[in-house]
Amino acid sequence: MKPVFVLLVSTAWTLTAAQYYYQGLMDYLENRLLAIEDRMQFWHEQSHRYHTELQDFKKLTAEAIDALSKEHSLLFKDLDGAGHRVDRVEREMDYVETNTSPRACANKADKVVEQGAWGLQESRGEEEAEEEWEEVHSKVSDCVEILSGIRSVKILKRVGSPKGMWTRDPRSSKVYVFNGTSGDDIYQFNSVRDFSSSPGVSSSRQIRLPSDWSGPGSAVYNGSLYYIQQEDKTDLHVVKYNLMSGSITDIAMFPVEGRATVYNLNPEIVADLAADDEGLWILYAASESEPNIHLAKMDPATLDIEEIWDTRCPRENAEAAFIVCGTVYVVYNTRLASRSRVQCLFDVNDMVISEEAPLLYFPRRYGAHASLKYNPEEKQLYAWDDGYQIIYRLTMKKKLLV
Ligand SMILES: *[C@@H]1O[C@H](CO)[C@@H](O)[C@H](O)[C@H]1NC(C)=O
Ligand SMILES: *[C@@H]1O[C@H](CO)[C@@H](O)[C@H](O)[C@H]1NC(C)=O
Repeated sequence: MKPVFVLLVSTAWTLTAAQYYYQGLMDYLENRLLAIEDRMQFWHEQSHRYHTELQDFKKLTAEAIDALSKEHSLLFKDLDGAGHRVDRVEREMDYVETNTSPRACANKADKVVEQGAWGLQESRGEEEAEEEWEEVHSKVSDCVEILSGIRSVKILKRVGSPKGMWTRDPRSSKVYVFNGTSGDDIYQFNSVRDFSSSPGVSSSRQIRLPSDWSGPGSAVYNGSLYYIQQEDKTDLHVVKYNLMSGSITDIAMFPVEGRATVYNLNPEIVADLAADDEGLWILYAASESEPNIHLAKMDPATLDIEEIWDTRCPRENAEAAFIVCGTVYVVYNTRLASRSRVQCLFDVNDMVISEEAPLLYFPRRYGAHASLKYNPEEKQLYAWDDGYQIIYRLTMKKKLLV
């Protein structure tokens, strides 16, 4: 009986021990599971929080971007408005300027002006001058065109200094480039296309002149170059140079006093030459005290001075000028370059009346014109604007009084 009891007891004990053991394991596992559940709960909460935060952030940034773009468009609108207002102010200023400028009109060429430098000769030959004037009148009266508008603008390239000039000989089609405001060399191109397709001035022929040209106010016509030469800033010479033979054909002194320059906004232009079928024209300042631009007509072959006029167009705020059909068109600007405009004209034949005198604006550009050279055959202007070479095509109409 005893061993049976012992067996029973020991079996019960073993059972109890195993039970304990499993209970402990179960407890342990349950605890672990609980802990894992807790963790999972925690992660879940965490990720939920992150998610919400992310969404909040997204919402915030979307709002901020929205607000920014709204502000941006507002700013744009403001800028646009400001631009329009500036435009309007500019137009108004132009309008006021044209209305208050007593000289925004065509001036009559009613008499030959007497010059101090040759007053004696002049007063002696007054009748003669009268006759000559008549002669010129009849000679150029078959040229009946007046500038009516600027049709188009073409920017060819940018070469050289901010100031300079370029022009095309209407007879030979060759193009001449004067870089800067003085020098003894110029560049010659065979055509406008040659010039515009050339890298820089590499396809040109460089011509070295026997003397310096002073100021971008030269003219080229029928194979001859006419340029101003001024030594020691005193005496002014007009030089005729044959571009074919490479020699000076003629030199003449031109009577001016002091060192006044013809256009107030381009002080490097001592005097401005223009050549066309009707002759050689020179625009100049007679003296420091003389506020107006003066005009002289010269014989292109001999450089004789044939006639002089006071154009009554002021030098003040003048930028450049050009001559079409015996009419001088003076271009004005402001010191802080705005829009160049033809605001004063003078007709040597006295045929352009004020009512048909156009107030012409040049298209918006880069800076201010350093020179404007008219080509009568093509009816276009060769302009130098802050180093850009530009062509303006012009439209013409018939003068009313023919
Ligand atoms: C034009 O002149 C400027 C100086 O006045 C000079 O630096 C430049 O090299 C010249 N350009 C050409 C193409 O001659
Ligand atoms: C152009 O030049 C040639 C030769 O240099 C000359 O014979 C001719 O008369 C000139 N023409 C004009 C319109 O000046």
